[in-house]
Amino acid sequence: MSVEIDLSADVAVVTGGGSGIGAGIASLLAQAGAKVAVLDMSGQAAKTVAEEINASGGTAIGVEANITDEAGVGQALASVRQQLGPVSVLVNNAATWTIKKFADTTAAETQRVVEVTLIGTVNVMRAALPDLVETQGRIVNVASDSARTGEHSMSVYAGAKAGVVAITKSLAQEVGRKGVRANVVAPGTTQTPGSAAFIEQVGGPDKLAKEIGRAHV
Ligand SMILES: NC(=O)c1ccc[n+]([C@@H]2O[C@H](COP(=O)([O-])OP(=O)(O)OC[C@H]3O[C@@H](n4cnc5c(N)ncnc54)[C@H](O)[C@@H]3O)[C@@H](O)[C@H]2O)c1
Repeated sequence: MSVEIDLSADVAVVTGGGSGIGAGIASLLAQAGAKVAVLDMSGQAAKTVAEEINASGGTAIGVEANITDEAGVGQALASVRQQLGPVSVLVNNAATWTIKKFADTTAAETQRVVEVTLIGTVNVMRAALPDLVETQGRIVNVASDSARTGEHSMSVYAGAKAGVVAITKSLAQEVGRKGVRANVVAPGTTQTPGSAAFIEQVGGPDKLAKEIGRAHV
């Protein structure tokens, strides 16, 4: 895919950049010229994606951080600023989920999903905001179609993603006048390492397509 946008003046952070959609976003941003920090709780996955980007002519660093650890996120972003410059593009892509009916979902699972998917996203936005105001930057939060339509067996995840949508809209109202834009993108089901279990549980991609068709009739 050729990329026609010029982001050569930008420094981008992509959370969950070590896998799936996040790795794809990190690679595309680098192709558009941005210097990219691939942030992931798996330091090895972040390093591997950054090395792939560097090997194909881009500029990237791998940064290990768990987005639920507020202090760790602060240190990670300080390190990005020191190595690449102030952040001007933040892609909040890291999330987690559990695939269970609502009645079977435990309190611990609920807490984990909300802590990563919603509070983790807030932690990274809070830590990056001074840089984003300085650079008049952009926030792109990855939500999910489930925030709008609901999702069978992923109710808590859908609720956390709906929270991401509402917080992004609220933050956009607060910081828009300072030149910071905040938006949400909401993917539908996408084949990634993270979604493989979900797609398998439904019975594979063909069965899933039929189920989605049925749910929307
Ligand atoms: N794949 C889909 O079908 C689909 C559909 C709609 C929305 N989404 C959203 O797209 C995004 C990416 O999904 P994916 O399928 O590529 O996921 P994935 O599981 O393939 O990758 C997620 C990455 O996030 C990292 N991560 C998870 N928790 C983290 C934490 N606490 N701190 C730091 N890193 C963490 C993981 O290590 C992993 O590298 C998620 O926000 C997901 O909710 C995915």
